[in-house]
Amino acid sequence: MQVQVFRTSDEVAAAVADAIEQVLASTPAAVLALATGRTPLAAYAELARRRREGRLDASQAAIVGIDEFAGVPAGDPGSFAAYLEQHVIGPIGFDPRRVERLDGAARNLDAECARYDRALEARGGVHLILLGIGANGHIGFNEPGESLVAATHVVELHASTRQDNASPFGGDVNAVPTRALSIGMQAILGARCVLLVATGADKAATIERALNGPLTTRVPASWLQTHRDVRIYLDREAASLLRGEAVRAG
Ligand code: F6R
Repeated sequence: MQVQVFRTSDEVAAAVADAIEQVLASTPAAVLALATGRTPLAAYAELARRRREGRLDASQAAIVGIDEFAGVPAGDPGSFAAYLEQHVIGPIGFDPRRVERLDGAARNLDAECARYDRALEARGGVHLILLGIGANGHIGFNEPGESLVAATHVVELHASTRQDNASPFGGDVNAVPTRALSIGMQAILGARCVLLVATGADKAATIERALNGPLTTRVPASWLQTHRDVRIYLDREAASLLRGEAVRAG
């Protein structure tokens, strides 16, 4: 596990953008699995800036979503599909024909999950996955619990996760769906390279448990310790409870 700590969240964003730029340079047709949420927004904005400057070409790459709210169609502003459209696909210059999305509005959600796993397999797996981390330790929407699920699956969202995701739903936690679709631990741990990004003091305790604690289904992110190419990007606040030599100042 490589852990890098940066002074500011802007420096975190630049380092994450560097890693994605390098993958696109070496593997133009790479398959990237990209998180939504607040944390990666600055990295996406930085990639978009590099694209506008002509430094970055994402047109051959494919992107795959990692989760979606159940019952929310792609056109809904609260959907992760809309987020990818707004912050990633257009601004960074991905080809809309090379985007794989979970359909939260599918009539049969289990069948949609099975279709998604087949689609990921048909794309030959994921080169790089960019993850955020929930305050409760979730990655994708693999929520903490008695067990974790390998395949793409339907998940009951925890109350804290719904609270944290209220803003695209007008700040109303009751408007946040109770269920979501998420890729499973197999797709995450099967990615060739995993980037995890966390900023802010409210992620510090979770980061400490995920990086230094035991492997436990109570902290899904702790399983990243088993991956052989995982790179953790933190600002000082998110890293404030870490100790040890693993931490290299950025
Ligand atoms: C979103 C996702 C989630 C978020 C996590 C952190 O696609 O998979 O795991 O990465 O909830 O969200 P933020 O970055 O908003 O704190």
